[in-house]
Order: sequence, then C-alpha cells, then structure tokens
Amino acid sequence: MSVTESPLDLNVRGMYFSGTGTTETIVLAVAEAISREEGFLRAPDINFTPPAARGQEYRFGQQDLVIFGVPVIAGRVPNVLLPFLNTLEGGGALAVPVVLYGNRNFDDALIELRNILEERGFHTVAGAAFIGEHSFSRILAAGRPDKDDIAKAEEFAKAAAGKIRALVKKAEENAETAAKAAGSGAAGIEEELNAALAAAGPVAVDGEDPIRPYYIPRDRKGNHINILKVKPKLDESKCTKCGICVEACPMGSIKPEAPGVVDGICIKCCGCEKKCPEGALYFDDPGYLYHKEELELGYPDRKEPKLFL
Ligand SMILES: Cc1cc2nc3c(=O)[nH]c(=O)nc-3n(C[C@H](O)[C@H](O)[C@H](O)COP(=O)(O)O)c2cc1C
Ligand code: SF4
Ligand code: SF4
Repeated sequence: MSVTESPLDLNVRGMYFSGTGTTETIVLAVAEAISREEGFLRAPDINFTPPAARGQEYRFGQQDLVIFGVPVIAGRVPNVLLPFLNTLEGGGALAVPVVLYGNRNFDDALIELRNILEERGFHTVAGAAFIGEHSFSRILAAGRPDKDDIAKAEEFAKAAAGKIRALVKKAEENAETAAKAAGSGAAGIEEELNAALAAAGPVAVDGEDPIRPYYIPRDRKGNHINILKVKPKLDESKCTKCGICVEACPMGSIKPEAPGVVDGICIKCCGCEKKCPEGALYFDDPGYLYHKEELELGYPDRKEPKLFL
C-alpha cells in the first residue's frame, strides 16, 4: 500500500469456495458493499471452487483487502482445501474471514479459517458466520442467505470499512507525531499501520483454540454415521448429458465423457445435485438420508449471522 500518498484505496476482492453458491453470495455482497465505501476499490474476485483455480498461486500485498469465504463442513474448514490454503501468500494484506453454515453450528470453522489466514501472512480485521441453505436439504435454512442476510452483510461491510479507516487514521496521526518529534517530514504511515495491526492482533471470533475434532454425525444409539464414501447417483432416464454437473463439481469427479457419473472423490457439497436442471442426481444412502432428516428435525429455528469486529 502506498500509504504515504494515499492511506486507503485498498483493492477489495472476494475469494471463496462455494459448492451450492451460498458462500459466494455473501462474500460478494460484503466485497461489493465495502468497495462502495470511500477509500476502497473493487478488484477482481477469485473463485477457487473449480479444481483448476486451486492449482494456481495467489500472492497478496498490503494494498489488498480479501473477503475470504468457505462453507462449514463438519464444524470446520473443509479439509480438502487445506493443502491449497497453505499455499496462499498474504504478504500483509488485510482479510475478513467469512464462513457459511447450514443452521446447525459453525463450531470452530471461523476460528480455524482466521488462524490459517493469519499463518499465511494476512491481518484479519473482521470476521463473520452467515447461514446458508444446508447443502443436504431444501428445507433446512431454505433459500438462505435471504434479503435480511444480505442487509446484515452490507451492515457488516460498512462496519468493517469503518474499522479499517479508523486504524489507518490512527496510523497517520502516529506517523505525523513521530515525524514532528524527529524533526523530519517523512511519514512512516506504513510502519505505523503495521504496528497497529500487530498490536490489535487477529480478530476475536467464536470457537475454540486448539481447534476441536471434526463434527461426527451419530444415530440415536450414538453410533457414528459414516458418509465419507457416499456419492450421488444418476437417474439415466432423466439425464440430458448437458454437462452442468461436470462444471459444478469442485473435485473434478464428474468427467465430461460421462456426465452425471461420479467416479472420484465426493465431498457431498451437493453442487451437482442442486444445479442439475433435470433432477437426475440423488442420494439414496440410508445413513446420509438419516443424517439429513435428523438435521432438518433438530435445527428448525432460524439462526442469525454472527459478526465479529
Ligand atoms: C459434508 C458437509 C458437512 C456440513 N457440515 C455442516 C456443519 O457442521 N454445520 C452446519 O451448520 N452446516 C454444515 N454443512 C452445511 C453447509 O455449511 C452450508 O449449507 C453452506 O451454506 C454451504 O455453502 P455453499 O453453498 O457455499 O456450498 C455441511 C455441508 C456439507 C456438504
Ligand atoms: S446436470 Fe443433470 S442432466 Fe445435466 S449432465 Fe448432469 S446429471 Fe445429466
Ligand atoms: S460429485 Fe460430490 S463433490 Fe462433486 S459436485 Fe457432486 S456432491 Fe459435490
């Protein structure tokens, strides 16, 4: 950031992984709203849902502000993303970790994402957990994020922008005072801002640290329901071979030669199933269906976004 001439003018971008689009919606709403504030500029977003996008390297610098979103999977950051996340180079950029969860709980996902971003060289200045329609369901948190969630996202963006502006202003004042005391005109705003960010530390968010183990679904007798190997099945009579599911799969597990047929790793993101225009994909694993119903019955009350500033 050339803070000496122009303290703000941060490049704001969304960066996200999103199987069914709920994380994308909130991340983009926050990024758009922040960039409408004075001192912030809109920069191109990075959607790392397609496997090819996770084969690239991403480096940031002090001029960047990244709204960084992932869905909650088993109460944590999706573990398939960890190798990719550990290649990021924050370079002192500001970041806002955001997680989307399906109305059960975000457990330690937000604190885990915050920690990863800090370890990768970002300064986390705000964070949030929003609610999205549960990947497995069409009735649990149905249609969310909705217009109230978007309004909250915009309110959050305004507050985050205000917090960043206040940090920069303080750094400017400190730099001026230091320059006067030293009898020089040179303003070390960049150093002052770094010092302020370091002193503030990572944004405080809900969750436990050390991070707890992945959430395990259980049946009524307390037995572990293992859905690791479950994949969607194809009703060939409905499939038009349009290829939408091929594009949608973040694991690249549906090959263009055989649209609809899942022959690789499946993280149950449900992107293929929800995006298929023919309703040709479905899950019939009894453990999966049991868990889905338990969630629908167990978490009927609307949860609200949690904002950390
Ligand atoms: C395998 C899997 C595990 C999930 N685990 C949780 C969870 O622990 N808590 C929760 O509330 N939602 C959970 N969800 C729901 C998603 O976090 C939620 O639907 C989110 O909005 C999906 O984001 P996306 O639309 O960007 O893919 C899970 C979803 C999947 C696919
Ligand atoms: S999106 Fe549905 S209809 Fe299209 S190829 Fe996939 S399974 Fe077939
Ligand atoms: S095959 Fe699995 S991982 Fe791929 S889009 Fe479908 S549910 Fe998601």
